[in-house]
Amino acid sequence: MSAPNAKTQDQAAYWNDEGGRRWVENIERVERMLQPLSRRLLEGAKPAAGEHVLDVGCGGGVTSAAFAEAVGPTGRVTGADVSAVILDVAKQRYGARANLEFTLGDCAALPFSPARFDLLASRFGVMFFPEPDAAFAHLRRAVKPGGRLAFLAWRALDMNPWMGVPVQAAFSILPRPEPPPPHAPGPFAFADGARLQGLLEGAGWREVRLETVEAMLDLGDPDMAVQQMIRMGPPAPIFATADAATQENVIAAVLQAVAPHVTNGRITMPGATWLVHATAP
Ligand SMILES: C[S@@+](CC[C@H](N)C(=O)[O-])C[C@H]1O[C@@H](n2cnc3c(N)ncnc32)[C@H](O)[C@@H]1O
Repeated sequence: MSAPNAKTQDQAAYWNDEGGRRWVENIERVERMLQPLSRRLLEGAKPAAGEHVLDVGCGGGVTSAAFAEAVGPTGRVTGADVSAVILDVAKQRYGARANLEFTLGDCAALPFSPARFDLLASRFGVMFFPEPDAAFAHLRRAVKPGGRLAFLAWRALDMNPWMGVPVQAAFSILPRPEPPPPHAPGPFAFADGARLQGLLEGAGWREVRLETVEAMLDLGDPDMAVQQMIRMGPPAPIFATADAATQENVIAAVLQAVAPHVTNGRITMPGATWLVHATAP
């Protein structure tokens, strides 16, 4: 899972181009990996029959479909995503469901009518806003008074060996780029829980609570997973420009690093997230 880490880079362009293509190529493996976390999101968000839910950065729509199931025929789910290429997958898979619609656009700017939703939910779709304070204030206005926010965001890279171990191994061979500015948009933008709490409170959310959710993640068959992780993760741009011999060395190093985590032919590694809860005043 990756995204450009520089604040200046255009997230919409990234997710509509390489980021979107990579996500779609990897979608089955990544969605399987995220399954145990999705269950926790659904339990924590408590969607009720008849509610209207917004799934922010809905990706291929698997969580939107789960919420649609939970709110039933009298409820409604809107899955919104900035990436046309990813949203096409959601529409192909779930577009026929009567209580589920998909909207293309930037959730920080889409003109949602005020107080439209009972619940805003997201599985790793909210860490990419270049201006998260403004984005969370915009989203709050779309929620009814007393409505809820529930989302998953990754904790720090060093608490997420599923990403940290392969990245470290790849950069033992590839030159390491300049670190991104702190809190730059990207998978780990909300690693700092105190900052995230302050950011949401500053955006007008109340009763902000960060719950720690950890799970063992099934990354899949080592050969395929390593190929995909290198092409999706932080080493991806440098790996892409390396010569063939260096690329082979990187793949070998990452395979070696994940080998202790292979059980029954699959890489299984821990992941650590925040499950964030908040209420609209
Ligand atoms: C890591 S993926 C997660 C996708 C999906 N929630 C899932 O769990 O399968 C992040 C998603 O957020 C979307 N995204 C990023 N910035 C966005 C924005 N400002 N508005 C809407 N979607 C956004 C991306 O296009 C991508 O589909």
